[in-house]
Amino acid sequence: MTEQHIVFIGAGNMARALISGMRQRDIPGESIQVHAPSTLHRGALAEEFGVRSRPAQAEKLPENSVVIYAAKPKQMPAILQEWGDTLRSGSALFVSVAAGVSSTQITALLGEEISVVRAMPNTPSQIGAGATTLFARANVGASQCDTVQQIFSGVGKVFWLHDEALMDTATALAGSGPAYVLLFLEALEDAAVLQGLDRITARALALQTVLGTAQMAAASPASPSELRHQVTSPGGTTAAGLAVWEEQLRPLAQRALAAAAERGRALSQLLKKDA
Ligand SMILES: NC(=O)c1ccc[n+]([C@@H]2O[C@H](COP(=O)([O-])OP(=O)(O)OC[C@H]3O[C@@H](n4cnc5c(N)ncnc54)[C@H](OP(=O)(O)O)[C@@H]3O)[C@@H](O)[C@H]2O)c1
Repeated sequence: MTEQHIVFIGAGNMARALISGMRQRDIPGESIQVHAPSTLHRGALAEEFGVRSRPAQAEKLPENSVVIYAAKPKQMPAILQEWGDTLRSGSALFVSVAAGVSSTQITALLGEEISVVRAMPNTPSQIGAGATTLFARANVGASQCDTVQQIFSGVGKVFWLHDEALMDTATALAGSGPAYVLLFLEALEDAAVLQGLDRITARALALQTVLGTAQMAAASPASPSELRHQVTSPGGTTAAGLAVWEEQLRPLAQRALAAAAERGRALSQLLKKDA
């Protein structure tokens, strides 16, 4: 990555995941600056990754800084009130990972001139296996998009959307998705325990099955549907289990994603009222 000055607002879980990814890509610690009120998290980041840490907002930013908003969504109006003058006086690119906050809400707080990218990473970013969806406003240039791409590809795979309205769907799928997969693991484990398998073995078998299948699907050019048909013999055990899943799973997936996306839209409206 070209020499960049990267500023984090917030030093929590998501900031840690992104900084860890950047450091593994040899982005120097001195070019990363972290702002948070208490020393608790930012102090730990400074010690572990050699980044610089500051309590309050920056007065002035170097040219071509990338500012990553990684504090809670509902705090955004108050925090951007503090940062507004600094951000408006430079040429910073503003990247928000705040769930459910639209780019229009951000420009309402910072002004239309500001270059804004929205990013929705997920928790596997903490181990470099994340899925991040990105949306850039029309005034964000190609080289700025490239910079953001490099930051988030440090913690997993990156997917650009051209319609911001679909960020709610991407959040419902990939942002909330790790929790769905964990629930699926729990359900498989509990069902196997009910049939008599001990819990430790049931948990390990469920985990390795989901992990191995995801790796197999990722390594294959075939679609999940094609792979599934390859392992399903008519009249066999898999066909018997699948017949039960098929009764409920697709409508459930549709309802779950619709509920999560709707909640994202509702939270965004709440922020609008608070702002
Ligand atoms: N975690 C995820 O999986 C995930 C996924 C996608 C998107 N996100 C988004 O990422 C953002 C951060 O989530 P998180 O899980 O990392 O939260 P978190 O662990 O609770 O961290 C929040 C951070 O914000 C800092 N903060 C509070 N007030 C501040 C202020 N006035 N100025 C600067 N920083 C301030 C806190 O400071 P202290 O250290 O002093 O407490 C803390 O470091 C949220 O907007 C969330 O929607 C998270």
